[in-house]
Amino acid sequence: MLFHMLQKYSNIHQAVINDLNPRLINAYRVIRNTPEELIEHLAEIQAIFYELHDNSLQKEFFLGFRERFNNEQMTAIEDAAILIFLNRTCFNGLYRENAKGKFNVPFGRYVNPTICDRDTIMANSRLLQRVTILHGDFSETVQQHNGYTFVYFDPPYRPLSSTSNFNSYIKEPFNDEEQIRLKEFVVDLSHQGIDVMVSNSDGKSFDPNDMFFDELYHQFNIERVGARRNINANATKRGITSELLIMNYNHCQGDRQIIQIPPQPYANA
Ligand SMILES: C[S@@+](CC[C@H](N)C(=O)[O-])C[C@H]1O[C@@H](n2cnc3c(N)ncnc32)[C@H](O)[C@@H]1O
Repeated sequence: MLFHMLQKYSNIHQAVINDLNPRLINAYRVIRNTPEELIEHLAEIQAIFYELHDNSLQKEFFLGFRERFNNEQMTAIEDAAILIFLNRTCFNGLYRENAKGKFNVPFGRYVNPTICDRDTIMANSRLLQRVTILHGDFSETVQQHNGYTFVYFDPPYRPLSSTSNFNSYIKEPFNDEEQIRLKEFVVDLSHQGIDVMVSNSDGKSFDPNDMFFDELYHQFNIERVGARRNINANATKRGITSELLIMNYNHCQGDRQIIQIPPQPYANA
């Protein structure tokens, strides 16, 4: 979404991104500030990885870097390079941490994966010059706004079943209480006149009785869209899935109409 918007609309002079994962935020900052040094590091890692040829040696190399990533203090550039290396070589390109905050995705099987993508890093670095990169809770994202502010939330998706647990990006859980806290923040932003969009999983498409988001956001405009998802341990569940786009405005012949969201029913009100 960010890169699409920045490429498509050169009149977006300033964007703000925020995430609670310090490693992800560090990578964005390194790509923006020191892309050449990052590329140098990645090119070295890629050359060694390719020279190993043998899959079990590459796996050992991967596990060594995963161990370092989890247990050693590194420079910001090394940290970003290893994050990208792990992302390009791990199973399905997932990012997942266990309860202790350790990255725990196993080695994937790719033939000569692109670890150092110079052109993309340089292009992203140029686009990120227009971006303020924050690290913190979602509630700290919107510090200033004007009549043109648009906020998009891409929170951890609510698991579709009790056995799927695809939202453990970081050790801090994003459970239903967190989904509700996010919705309350979205209501607050709506009252400040800010346009907001939230994406999430569509539990109802999996279980027709799952009304969680339909009830939580009943005052909002909820659209169901098809999204291509290749990240699923179960190959039969990859492909087009229904997902939710929740907005505090409606589209109307190219224009948008704001929805009046009633005040929050605070428990202590
Ligand atoms: C679906 S991913 C979105 C990733 C991001 N859009 C990207 O591509 O870089 C959900 C993200 O929510 C972040 N997250 C979880 N809890 C959070 C919180 N309380 N505040 C801010 N971000 C949070 C996770 O670290 C994860 O990166």
